[in-house]
Amino acid sequence: MNQDLKAILVDEDEIQQIVKRISKQITDDYKGRDTKLLLLGILKGSVVFMADLMRNIDLPFEIDFMKVSSYGAGSKSSGNLKITLDIKRDDLSNIDILIVEDIIDSGRTLSNLTQYLKEKGANSVSTVTLLDKPSRREVEYNATYTGKTIPDEFVVGYGLDYAENYRYLPYVAILKSEVYSK
Ligand code: PRP
Repeated sequence: MNQDLKAILVDEDEIQQIVKRISKQITDDYKGRDTKLLLLGILKGSVVFMADLMRNIDLPFEIDFMKVSSYGAGSKSSGNLKITLDIKRDDLSNIDILIVEDIIDSGRTLSNLTQYLKEKGANSVSTVTLLDKPSRREVEYNATYTGKTIPDEFVVGYGLDYAENYRYLPYVAILKSEVYSK
């Protein structure tokens, strides 16, 4: 294990169990609809989870990506959302969007983004997150599908970074505090 890591929190086997469980739920929930399913990955942290979901959801779907950051309070408004890369579609009226995230922390990103996509006219907006830290919530937000609820530890790997490092690790691990408090 990398010497910057304190412990592995979610190992590769557990991640694959989570991916299979959630992919089956999504497959069951979205099959037989007349609308189009769109997996919307939020860059960059979601890319590894997104790629695993794509290979396990047993339905046709399309993919797209957004890059956003969020600030300020505002569960009712999308005005606090800074969009660096927007969704590449005009008419969302026939589209069921499933936002794919690696982690929910304050809840601001998903709260604001969900509001934004509803205002853009999506038929439905749901969310799937690999990890959830409910103890860090600043605005109320619950994902539709959650992989694992975790304590308030600094986690990296499987897409999650510290200063752009560690995204490539195949598991989720707790970073030693001396690494980020240097
Ligand atoms: C992380 C994560 C979510 C957001 C969650 O992204 O991927 O998008 O923060 O935090 P919140 O619930 O407090 O809004 P980050 O901004 O670190 O970008 P990255 O995915 O490119 O690493």
